[in-house]
Amino acid sequence: MSLPKVFITRPLPRQVVEPLATRCDWKMHPEDAPIDPQRLLEACREIEGLMVAGARVSQEVLEQAPRLRVISNVGVGYDNIDVAACTRRRILVTNTPDVLTEATADLAFALLISVARRIVESDRYVREGRWHYWQWAYLWGTDLFGKTLGVYGLGRIGKAMARRARGFSMRVLYHDSVRATPALEQELGAQFVDRETLLREADFLTLHVPLTPETHHLITARELALLKPTAFLINAARGKVVDEAALVEALESRRIAGAGLDVFEQEPQVHPALLALPNAVLTPHVGSATSETRLAMAMLAAENLLAALEGRRPPNPVNPEVFA
Ligand code: 8YV
Repeated sequence: MSLPKVFITRPLPRQVVEPLATRCDWKMHPEDAPIDPQRLLEACREIEGLMVAGARVSQEVLEQAPRLRVISNVGVGYDNIDVAACTRRRILVTNTPDVLTEATADLAFALLISVARRIVESDRYVREGRWHYWQWAYLWGTDLFGKTLGVYGLGRIGKAMARRARGFSMRVLYHDSVRATPALEQELGAQFVDRETLLREADFLTLHVPLTPETHHLITARELALLKPTAFLINAARGKVVDEAALVEALESRRIAGAGLDVFEQEPQVHPALLALPNAVLTPHVGSATSETRLAMAMLAAENLLAALEGRRPPNPVNPEVFA
């Protein structure tokens, strides 16, 4: 019996792909750069399994992939994949939750501290030779302790943020479409509030929602206007959750105090005005970018892929309806 054909859109580590060799016939895009859409289309014609890291899988791709049975996304967010179209074609989609929770929360919290304590500005100050003597009143930031963290979306990463905030003696409020159990609220020390209260009371608003039609532009000028002028916005979820032009306007006019952003509306393009703003800390979508976490993500994605190809239920199905 011939082995199932698989295509991998990024050069994943050896320890992940080598074990695949006895169980599938795999090919891999050799460059750590986005695959040309035409090349992806061609690669998909014969395959049964696709392992995707950072590539868009549109309906057009699916139409060229008559044998495709599983798309294993190396990432927790799967807004890059047309899941509805996959489900219609009975193609299973899987993702990699859990393994990247702590790394992503670390990065979001790092952005929070960086923007509050002006770490990037301070670094630049030293490197540019502007540090001539110690001053009483330079580079003043904002305290974390005693402040309120507003967690928008109490999923895995939202919860991990709440835990971190407690360690920094912060008060934690959260809003989500589903309220957590009293036991979880107590464990996290997090209080449920409505959306407006969250926006009004947060000193740091941190976003942890997936990108869906409902969360697209969840934060617009209207929501930013409800924030305190001393508030900071942290986004390590998805760029399109925030109306970036409205955010730029709020930051420029000091309508809010600052932002820490790992994700952008049109990645890798960043709104040019953001680049000039000292009260914004910007990172290039590196929430899960640690050696341990990226390896764990790739391993889990391989496990999901093989399980689906071999007729077992994978650990992380996104559209389990295809099993029905
Ligand atoms: C991935 C991410 O690196 O998991 C996610 O949702 O945003 C990142 O961890 C990215 O999706 C590329 O696969």
